[in-house]
Amino acid sequence: MDKLAILGGPKVFDSFWPDWPVYGERDRQALIEVLESRNWGGYPAPNQRAREFAAAFAAAHDARHGICAANGSVTLEVALRAAGIRAGDEVIVTPYTWIATAGAPVLVNAVPVFADIDPDTYCLSPQAAEAAITARTRAIIPVHLGWSVADLDAFRQLARRHDLVLIEDCAHMHGARWQGRGVGSHGHLGSFSFQSSKLMTAGEGGIILTSDDELAQKCHSYVNCGRKEPGYDQFAGSVFSGNYRITEFQAALLLARLPDLEPERRRREENAHYLTKLLQDIEGISPLRVDERVTHLAAYQYIFRYHQEAFAGLPRDRFVEALCAEGVPADGDFYVPIYRSPLFPVTAERFPAIRERYGEAIGPHSASCPVAERAAYQEAVWLHHPLLMAGRAEMDKIAEAIDKIRRRAADLAS
Ligand SMILES: Cc1ncc(COP(=O)(O)O)c(C=O)c1O
Repeated sequence: MDKLAILGGPKVFDSFWPDWPVYGERDRQALIEVLESRNWGGYPAPNQRAREFAAAFAAAHDARHGICAANGSVTLEVALRAAGIRAGDEVIVTPYTWIATAGAPVLVNAVPVFADIDPDTYCLSPQAAEAAITARTRAIIPVHLGWSVADLDAFRQLARRHDLVLIEDCAHMHGARWQGRGVGSHGHLGSFSFQSSKLMTAGEGGIILTSDDELAQKCHSYVNCGRKEPGYDQFAGSVFSGNYRITEFQAALLLARLPDLEPERRRREENAHYLTKLLQDIEGISPLRVDERVTHLAAYQYIFRYHQEAFAGLPRDRFVEALCAEGVPADGDFYVPIYRSPLFPVTAERFPAIRERYGEAIGPHSASCPVAERAAYQEAVWLHHPLLMAGRAEMDKIAEAIDKIRRRAADLAS
């Protein structure tokens, strides 16, 4: 009965997890309305639904302005450009994130500088970030990762003391609050993604939040081929840029989904806390610490740390295979440190600004981030948020599957 599923035993969970994304009649109607209106695109920008959604999403996160865009990669690029980041400027980033966080600085000809993460939250460590500051540092991009919010108090202080632009990468964190205030509104700019796997999605899409009028004007301009906006004539010079506009289909879907964001967030939050209670009792498993200043928790991925010593020395990746076999989909190498990623072949030939700091290419030699390395290759286990949309009985099954593997780990390790 207790034989591991990966070795041919019965699965702990032999049913279905909730689908993602979800949709209903309201979404269908919203899309049909756009179809029948024949007003499908992003131009004139911001178009009607994009404007309406941006205002509602910004208000929900306590920011004065929202600027929709094509995805959550270009929003980071636009944020950097709007903030005046130039060739050769250094931008401090976490290496434990999707490549876009460090890719955006590269694409604006700036230089990403990798600082290590906090071992308890896996977000950029404020101390490591401070130690990485040089005379060339101009901006800092902490990522709110998985279900952790970066220490926004520390980063705001750091930005103020060193006169840096603070850009929150909130691609994982729709609806979260820090000290009662929406994420994305603590820094100068906040960037969100609406890609398929995210907590709010229109298939693709992104938004930039800011409460600074001038930054908002610049973001609008960079999203819209450098055009001056109607009603934004005080922005004197137009800039050179591309077309990063969102379509009305995406904006309509996001508008239709927005009322569900808070109830869905609450459900995941309740399940995340319940799961944490269960996992805390399993030797060798330690969920990431939730900072008490997180007043609304958003969980894009539930992350826990796996300690192989308590599992008969079973390596993390084998544990993840065993967990998937028990019917609990999980990821180990969800992210690798960006400077090691095959998706990050950044060379000085193409991006000369990196040469002075890194030589001919960014690679494993370019950073020393042992905590991120340990998380990426040994310790982190990620559970995607649709699992947290299930009920308590399913959370019990997740814990049961993990505990079963711990008890029978020797069967697998041998
Ligand atoms: C932390 C982070 N930043 C940025 C992005 C980029 O967003 P998009 O996929 O919408 O371009 C992602 C998407 O996976 C992400 O996870």
